[in-house]
Amino acid sequence: MSKAAKLELDGKSYEFPIVEGSEQEKALDISALRNATGHITLDDGYGNTGSCLSAITFIDGEQGILRYRGIPIEQLAEQSTFVETAYLIIYGELPSREQLRRFSDLLTQNQNLHEDMRHHFEGFPATAHPMAILSAMINASSCFYPGLMGRANSGRFDVHAARLISQVRTIAAFSYRKSRGLPIVYPKPAYKYTANFLHMLFSEPYQEYELKPEVVKALDLIFLLHADHEQNCSTATVRMVASSQANLFACAAAGVCALWGPLHGGANQAVVEMLDAIHRSGDDGSKFITAAKDKDSGKRLMGFGHRIYKNYDPRAKIIKAACDRLLAALHASDPLLDIAKRLEETALNDSYFVERKLYPNVDFYSGIIMRALGIPLEMFTVIFAIGRMPGWIANFKEILHDRNSRIYRPRQIYTGPTLRSYVPLDQRA
Ligand code: SDX
Repeated sequence: MSKAAKLELDGKSYEFPIVEGSEQEKALDISALRNATGHITLDDGYGNTGSCLSAITFIDGEQGILRYRGIPIEQLAEQSTFVETAYLIIYGELPSREQLRRFSDLLTQNQNLHEDMRHHFEGFPATAHPMAILSAMINASSCFYPGLMGRANSGRFDVHAARLISQVRTIAAFSYRKSRGLPIVYPKPAYKYTANFLHMLFSEPYQEYELKPEVVKALDLIFLLHADHEQNCSTATVRMVASSQANLFACAAAGVCALWGPLHGGANQAVVEMLDAIHRSGDDGSKFITAAKDKDSGKRLMGFGHRIYKNYDPRAKIIKAACDRLLAALHASDPLLDIAKRLEETALNDSYFVERKLYPNVDFYSGIIMRALGIPLEMFTVIFAIGRMPGWIANFKEILHDRNSRIYRPRQIYTGPTLRSYVPLDQRA
């Protein structure tokens, strides 16, 4: 393998070292490019640009491989839990029994919001989108932890991380209850992470929510499958904010905002809206597929396609199977699942999608599970954010502990007006 790449430019020759990762991914290190050549690179959407070295998650998009800290997502989905996987992603190793107990206890100790936070919920209209509330309240909760600011307190990272993972769930549940005009339900120390979330969502002061094991397992699996995904839009945002040495909660709040977009985490809500519209229109899906292939239609097959996966997203495979298991366990059916399966079959046999290597991604079936759990549509992306929190925290930690970390500050190529003078108001047209 060559150790450097040669560049011929304006009659001069330059060499740039090649960096190789542990999975033989290769990159040209162009950190000296501008000083050496006076040129920068331009890469629309960063499709060919690596922003960092990271040891957290490996994706092989061509093969449809996803591993957290080297462990295949299929094994974690089968044998692990969200909390154990969160520990793996943040700390790099599967926890011992004692480490897992301590981590779980830390989550329990930090599950309540400061009581003054309750008043903030009163300020939101019932129609407020829970992603807006989530981002605002993550930042608001940081006001109660002055020690969070600045790197001097990186020794308290474990507490800050546990507090964020635990409280994002409490904030989400409280925002749901508020949106329904329901009294908030406090977390129960006796309940584990995901069961506690369902309890806070659906219990009533006069009646405990019945925690069915298959329901808890299905939601825990959704959280686990969303836990990290290398440098996706929201995680790259978290690293961007972390590079300025902003605090962990500010970084997470920024991640929530980036995730909200329908091309990213907002796609799980957009998929169900798409399936529901197809269902209500009586279309068997073929009309929609035709529209999705027509650039002028403004429609896309939401939940399909991916910047990295040019094969089936391994998470989508796992979620699709989990849909069937959960609906069978609940003796339920969902016409939207049947439509989704029909759309998938049609698309995977249609040259438009095949040529562009467009396959189902994590968002294509996840909404079906959330519907079956009784989670409202506007909370779908919040569920994604709760799941992704360990990944954002792990990426923040990589920057926090990197002595050579620099602020992220991309360049640009200017295309605006060249030099011109100010024109006083009375001389303008
Ligand atoms: C997530 O990055 C991550 O890891 C994200 C994520 C994570 O875990 O963090 O995996 C989570 O965000 C999954 C993606 C969820 N978004 C959607 O499902 C929205 C629908 N998908 C697309 O908009 C699109 O596929 C993206 C945004 C996911 C990827 O966009 P790219 O890589 O910029 O690809 P593109 O828009 O340039 O599309 C390439 C071609 C275009 O056609 P041509 O110009 O070549 O003719 O494919 C077409 C696109 O029009 N295309 C689609 C399509 N997705 C791409 N056409 C119809 N339906 C689609 N869904």
